[in-house]
Amino acid sequence: MTVPAPDPGRPGPVPFLDLRGEHRRVRPELDAAWAAVLDEGRFVGGPEVAAFEREFADHVGTARCVGVGNGTDALELVLRALGIDPGAEVVVPTNTFVATAEAVRAVGAVPVFVDVRPEDLLVDPAAVEAAIGPRTAAVVAVHLFGQVADIAALRRITRRHGLALVEDAAQAHGARFAGRRAGALGDAAAFSFYPGKNLGALGDGGAVTTADTGLADRVRRLADHGRDPRDRHLHREAGRNSRLDALQAAVLRVRLRRLDADNEARRQVVARYGDLLPDACRLLAVDPRGEPVHHLAVVQVEQRGAVADALSAAGIGWGIHYPVPCHRQPAFADDRPTPSLPVAEAAAARILSLPCSPGTTAEQIEHVTTAVSDVVERRRRVASR
Ligand SMILES: Cc1ncc(COP(=O)(O)O)c(C=O)c1O
Repeated sequence: MTVPAPDPGRPGPVPFLDLRGEHRRVRPELDAAWAAVLDEGRFVGGPEVAAFEREFADHVGTARCVGVGNGTDALELVLRALGIDPGAEVVVPTNTFVATAEAVRAVGAVPVFVDVRPEDLLVDPAAVEAAIGPRTAAVVAVHLFGQVADIAALRRITRRHGLALVEDAAQAHGARFAGRRAGALGDAAAFSFYPGKNLGALGDGGAVTTADTGLADRVRRLADHGRDPRDRHLHREAGRNSRLDALQAAVLRVRLRRLDADNEARRQVVARYGDLLPDACRLLAVDPRGEPVHHLAVVQVEQRGAVADALSAAGIGWGIHYPVPCHRQPAFADDRPTPSLPVAEAAAARILSLPCSPGTTAEQIEHVTTAVSDVVERRRRVASR
């Protein structure tokens, strides 16, 4: 097969996520960071992890950070440390990555799925309040796509009903609401450092942040086999192994130094999308009280199949987050039956995630928006014939 010569007039492919490019920018710092870990010789926990935990807690603006194995474990450990009992109910937005609901199941509790707001697809506080019953123990606020949920309303509701408020901040490193960062807004928060996240490791990683030092100590104990911090051979309760590696912590320290600048670059990418996308393909709304970090650039478009096909044909990556809401997932079908959640169900057929990274260039944005505009315009002309 002969490979066609590149056409200098045709824009190149746009990957949905270009992790190699992201890492190229910090390669010398990464090389120095893991050389330091190799020299230190501590690979699970140790000074590198402790330094990252301090720096991340400071960035979030809270007292404590505990590094753990991944974001799903972070959620589960928070729920366990809060004492969420088997049989309790935890209110969860249906529009989230399935891990949020899995963590609830993992502690033996029941996820109660609720609908989201049509303008930003974040959890609807009115739906949360309507779902609270005698067995409700906690609410999980998912800061999806890089935008903080309406934490002011959720805090009022959880206080009124005496419930714990847990943040799932896996997609919201650095995002703010009324000036305060995700991770410092609930009783405790869970972060994921999966490689594609705004703050990503080179493998799995996660963290719990909280202002409650007792809760942080309990999470650390549970994540380290229930070990007594003063006597490593004494196990106070049956915990598990979910700890952050020193190599991942070293990578995260490098990337944390650039997180604010990277998030600002993401905001500029999304602002440009907003200028150039056609009216028929609109970005999700931004809450004026917040400062999002655009983990994903999500649009809603009626002709999603045609738009996605056009993007693929133009060499542009795309995603759908998420095509099946949690309450429709077979894994959760045997929890208590959930009625229709119409906003999330309708959105699942329209949402499309466009390429959005700190390194996404103006040319790439134009390539994407031109491909979208062409197909939307073509279909408008066909429909009006
Ligand atoms: C909203 C949300 N919650 C939880 C998780 C789970 O994180 P991890 O993959 O690190 O377990 C993710 C990861 O994709 C996520 O996006």
